[in-house]
Amino acid sequence: MFLGIDVGTSAVKALLIDENSATVAEADIPLSVSTPHPFWSEQNPADWWQATLGAIDALTAQNPTAIAATRAIGLSGQMHGATLLGADDKPLRPAILWNDGRAMRECEELDQALPDLGIQAGVATMPGMTAPKLIWLKKHEPDLFAKIKTILLPKDYIRFCLSGDKVTEMSDAAGTLWLDEESRSWNHAAIDACGLNMDQLPKLVEGSDVTGTLFPELANRWGMGRNVIIAGGGGDAATGGIGVGAVSHGDGFISLGTSSQIFVASDKYRPKPKELLHSFTHAIPQHWFQMAVLLNGASCLQWAASLLAEPDIGALLRRVEAQHAAPSDILFLPYLNGERTPHNNPYARGVFFGLGSDSNREMMVQSTLEGVAFALSDAQSRLHAAGAHCELPGVIGGGARSRYWIQLISDIMGTPLARYEGAAKGPAFGAARLGRLALTKELPEDVCLKPAIEEVIEPNQVRHASYQPRFAKFKRLYAALSDEFTPT
Ligand code: XUL
Repeated sequence: MFLGIDVGTSAVKALLIDENSATVAEADIPLSVSTPHPFWSEQNPADWWQATLGAIDALTAQNPTAIAATRAIGLSGQMHGATLLGADDKPLRPAILWNDGRAMRECEELDQALPDLGIQAGVATMPGMTAPKLIWLKKHEPDLFAKIKTILLPKDYIRFCLSGDKVTEMSDAAGTLWLDEESRSWNHAAIDACGLNMDQLPKLVEGSDVTGTLFPELANRWGMGRNVIIAGGGGDAATGGIGVGAVSHGDGFISLGTSSQIFVASDKYRPKPKELLHSFTHAIPQHWFQMAVLLNGASCLQWAASLLAEPDIGALLRRVEAQHAAPSDILFLPYLNGERTPHNNPYARGVFFGLGSDSNREMMVQSTLEGVAFALSDAQSRLHAAGAHCELPGVIGGGARSRYWIQLISDIMGTPLARYEGAAKGPAFGAARLGRLALTKELPEDVCLKPAIEEVIEPNQVRHASYQPRFAKFKRLYAALSDEFTPT
């Protein structure tokens, strides 16, 4: 058995797979995000740990025999989060997350100090990345900054709790701005530019390497043996890729979760920071990927449903689909948490445009779904401009549950999309596969197989054409408003 743990933003998920990659048990423990100031986004590392314990305890209650047979654990997690430990190895403050927008000015400072950083780090200096957050802390919380002994990424904090090892791996280190993506090693100049030294950073391995062994007291708690190994694992984008077999050049997927990504695997390092793409090291050796990251996704639908007091999202979507006759007259800019690709604007916010006294809740939800699809289409054009193409991306994440939404995205993007058989394979599944690779040393290509395709959704060309004027207006609307979002 192989256990995958995904330290997400809205939940910690634990998933157990057997030697045939069949899911044996899974459990989720929800998490919440705190926003103590506008544009801030934080979580307590202690909450990740409690949720991890709770999720594995729940697996143990579901299937004690299976969990006891665990031989390897793989970790996945939300990327970029600055998790800071002091001299006693305890968190010094809440972690600053991937969708935190406070460090925009610090990005400009880093750009001035290191003008070529984007080419080395695979991504433009954006406030979601880890490095500018540390510069912000040095300026705004200097006493705390002086106490930092170790900087970890979220899943690597969980690794520390599981085995006591301070280690990260390439695909998560990729999102710090401190990794030289091509040589797969720490970039000393970038670390130095943030006022940090190498001792404060974890050891760097590949995602399919072994990083340590589970503490005996935890092994006892779950009835496991003495030698459960822990694999490097990956950032959630890379583990999502491992889960759906997106490893060879041109393989890809769209993830519709709290955030969304369009991911295309790459045979070599191809930095495109000006296109606001993320060109990162994959979780297996000698592989890279290119990715458009949107800070909003299925979370927009959840937000709209909760605002409209619609507890049953499935029923809501059925009503919206039944009423859907044409592109909505309402436009929704889905930037509830700012945006990375293609805007690099942490201050951008959501907008409903074109409301009338006849607008009803179904129309607003239709426009919400369309707004996310327009944003994906906008991001896809950056990937295409950079030469990154995927013939048939599969859709994963919470949003993949709605066939209607996937058809809408396919119509708007003009791209065929695959729906996978069974439950969509997510990052926790990819993490479990990395656990297996670390233990068995099999070839990644033999383990990272693609899921069976249940259905290929082809774009309806008539609808695609009818959406183009709306898409053009969507882009004009953002362009007209972009300066207005900046706080004064
Ligand atoms: C990727 C990114 C997000 C987080 C959220 O660059 O910021 O996808 O990893 O899970």
